[in-house]
Amino acid sequence: MTLESDHNAGADVAARIERRWATLSIAIVGLLTGMAAVIGIHQATMPQGHVETADPKTLHLSGEFVESNLGSAVEPDGSVTVRAIGQQYSFTPQCIVVPEGTPVTFRATSADVVHGLLIEGTNINTMLVPGYVSVLQTQFKAPAEHAMPCQEFCGIGHQGMWGKVKVVDKAAFLTMTAARRRLTCVD
Ligand code: CUA
Repeated sequence: MTLESDHNAGADVAARIERRWATLSIAIVGLLTGMAAVIGIHQATMPQGHVETADPKTLHLSGEFVESNLGSAVEPDGSVTVRAIGQQYSFTPQCIVVPEGTPVTFRATSADVVHGLLIEGTNINTMLVPGYVSVLQTQFKAPAEHAMPCQEFCGIGHQGMWGKVKVVDKAAFLTMTAARRRLTCVD
């Protein structure tokens, strides 16, 4: 074998390996795109269709995020709306109560900096951006307690910013709402 053909053989091997890795990379991209599509369509983790705003400076004074309006409320159609605020370093309400087997809409915003709203074991995972209302829908299958950590670094107290979502039996929830317009677990 001459030096020349030796070199060509080496180049052939290199080209073959390169093609193999290129194919594998494309396959990985295809797989990840497919996974994102399945998660987006199947679990309905969709970005909200329109932007709603809320002035973080006046949240506590007027509008839907005044303290007396926070917590869980039953809508005329039987679904439940939960309103919450994130601030350094807690959620209000700290503990959210919702019924099982019912469509639940979360409406939340921030009173200061960017926080994260994540409910473990659900598709709820979003940022709370001051000035904007984050809207997400979900349904809880069974009574359980879900941890709700802030998942965006928001300052020195970030690690301690945790809330909780308590999913209760539907009949029990309706009994509770008969007595109060807005529910939280610490009522
Ligand atoms: Cu709020 Cu991290």
